[in-house]
Amino acid sequence: MLSTELYSVVVWRSALIDGLILTRVMLVFVSVLLLVRALQIFREAISLPPGPWGLPVLGSLPFLKGDLHLHYRDLTRKYGSVISTRLGSQLIVVLSDYKMIRDLFRKEEFTGRPTTEFSSILGDYGVINVAGKLWKDQRRFLHDGLRHFGMSYVGTRKQQMEKRIMNEVEEFLNVLRQKGDDAVDLNPVFAVSISNVICDVLMSVRFSHTDAKFIRFMNLIDEGFKLFGSLEAALFIPFLRHLPGYAATLQKFAKNREEMAKFLQETIDEHKKTFNSEHLRDLLDTYLYEIQKANAEGNGHDLFGGRDHDRQMQQIMGDLFSAGMETIKSTLRWAVLFMLYHPDRAKAVQEELDQVVGRTRLPKLEDIAYLPTTESTILEVLRISSIVPMGTTHAPIRDVKLNGFHLPQHAQIIPLLHAVHMDPTLWNDPDTFNPSRFINAEGKVCKPDYFLPFGVGRRMCLGEVLARMELFLFFSSLLHCFDLSVPEGEKLPTRRGIAGVTLSPSTFRVTLRERPLIRGSRTRDDSMSTEVSSCVTAF
Ligand code: HEM
Repeated sequence: MLSTELYSVVVWRSALIDGLILTRVMLVFVSVLLLVRALQIFREAISLPPGPWGLPVLGSLPFLKGDLHLHYRDLTRKYGSVISTRLGSQLIVVLSDYKMIRDLFRKEEFTGRPTTEFSSILGDYGVINVAGKLWKDQRRFLHDGLRHFGMSYVGTRKQQMEKRIMNEVEEFLNVLRQKGDDAVDLNPVFAVSISNVICDVLMSVRFSHTDAKFIRFMNLIDEGFKLFGSLEAALFIPFLRHLPGYAATLQKFAKNREEMAKFLQETIDEHKKTFNSEHLRDLLDTYLYEIQKANAEGNGHDLFGGRDHDRQMQQIMGDLFSAGMETIKSTLRWAVLFMLYHPDRAKAVQEELDQVVGRTRLPKLEDIAYLPTTESTILEVLRISSIVPMGTTHAPIRDVKLNGFHLPQHAQIIPLLHAVHMDPTLWNDPDTFNPSRFINAEGKVCKPDYFLPFGVGRRMCLGEVLARMELFLFFSSLLHCFDLSVPEGEKLPTRRGIAGVTLSPSTFRVTLRERPLIRGSRTRDDSMSTEVSSCVTAF
């Protein structure tokens, strides 16, 4: 009996000792692992550009205050022109030196896009959020396709594009004329007109200003931006995906995307039915032609890297619509807002238009070479509003070295365009709206290398030519036909923008007084020389 008890005590003791040894071994093992990870993090951190360390897991997320581009601008002021920071699990590198941005973004290594929750929702389709071969092929294809439909500085196609835009400008002016003396929020009016330009180029679709389908389409986009905003936190802290509410928001986001996809698919199906390879009507037709050609050559399966053809077309339409609508609409709204702040500048633009264009017609693209006051005003609006304040995030396609720092493949690289455009070492008094900064000693328009509203390098904006045509034609026609003023009893609108992917003005209203066009004034054709300086932006 005693020996049995003794035996169980011995067994118990040895089990206890074994357990203690095991626990110790485990503790040592876990400590070594933690130490190795801490050393890794430390080594990675000291090889990264300087910046705040933040907290474990959360990084700098708890310290974010206000608009992200302003937060990053403050960090670059504190730590230097290239900084790193962590937002949850994501490593962010922010660049604010324009030479560095120019140099890096010309390199193949920096043409990647980060892999995030958002990119997995888009599923590696389209052009904006893809990288590698698909991006290269699509960019080249779109570049040629958009040129074919008139996105070019020269040639007869340019005139066709001008005609498309001017149809919308005239419709836009008619809608405004009908508003009479009422104070107007120009946002919805611009939305239809600008959408119509891009939708016409993409898929020969136009909407009327009261079209229920269009209103639904715009609501889906607006709601999509908002829903994406509420999903965004999970980009940085993946465990938030497990919180209640997240799944429902994700589901709603997916449902809206489905509805958008359905709308786009109907347009694609319609195009397939009426497709004629001898007469390509729009960009969608050029895709159908490409698919037809690839199928005929037996390469259909390889096209778009083996991805679904319809889905790729849907995403391309979605990408170009979202890139080409909000940006131009917001810039035009900023232009109106700055004209309310600077009525003397609006007057100077109107006087120049009256003298060069005359009161018998609307401005044309060919006039721009003779309109330095108008052109420099648009450039200054683009600079001071920096409507894409953080550009679009890039990612190195492999680990790279930058000024002795190590940038890992997964890093999110942000070109802080806002900081470049507001840098007092580059621009005299950058907070002041001063279009004359774009006029040189000979009175010609000149853009410095550090003017980057459309980004720079291999992934710079694909729509710059179209954007500049639209900005000029809408802005100059608006000022040519209307005087703008703040509605009676209302204050000047705030200059503080609403920051999202773009920086857009808050809602504001404007009173319009018509400046009717008349017959018989002097125009550029009979009064101005045709000499164009190489410094002038050529359209
Ligand atoms: C005022 C108007 C516009 C501004 C300020 C603007 C600005 C920009 C910027 C800053 C980028 C990011 C470049 C980068 O990743 O480094 C970009 C990309 C892009 N933009 Fe624009 N954009 C405008 C209008 C347009 C229009 C009208 C279109 C459509 C035709 C367009 C199509 C694109 C596309 C497809 C990309 C992605 C290019 C790529 O990933 O390779 N943009 N834009």
